[in-house]
Amino acid sequence: MATKAKSATKSAAKASTPSSAINIGISDKDRAAIAKGLSHLLADTHTLYLTTHNFHWNVTGPMFNTLHLMFMGQYTELWNAVDPIAERVRSLGHVAPGSYADFGKLASIADAPSQPPKALEMVRILVKGHEAVARTARELFPVADKVGDEPTCDLLTQRMTVHEQTAWMLRSLLEE
Ligand SMILES: [Fe+2]
Repeated sequence: MATKAKSATKSAAKASTPSSAINIGISDKDRAAIAKGLSHLLADTHTLYLTTHNFHWNVTGPMFNTLHLMFMGQYTELWNAVDPIAERVRSLGHVAPGSYADFGKLASIADAPSQPPKALEMVRILVKGHEAVARTARELFPVADKVGDEPTCDLLTQRMTVHEQTAWMLRSLLEE
């Protein structure tokens, strides 16, 4: 009787494992660490998105047309990038941050200046922003790589490629 009761308890415990439990081969601790890093990347990407859109609106001077259009391409790319980053956080079982308050706390880059800088200063700010986001992605890479989180590594690789290429293009505008 006692053995029967024990085995019934055991199978009940097994059956009570929530069907929503995550079992993808990455431990809870590692998923939490990766989700935290991705939340920083999301906050950085969103902050850089808003700054770039702000500069698209407020740029002035002889380079207006070039920069207005260039910034539009860049903010569109950044806007499209936030979604896969947030959804990777969700796939790892964590809540994706999505408020200005959370982004302000999590971002490694400063918010856009309230007074629009001159055109070339905007370019300098964006170079630094893209470099900072590339560093955030690069810092997380070994954490994801160590535990075989290929989807996150793939996402980080794509993000580093875009940020480093965009930083190069913007930096080229500053050269004589
Ligand atoms: Fe526009």
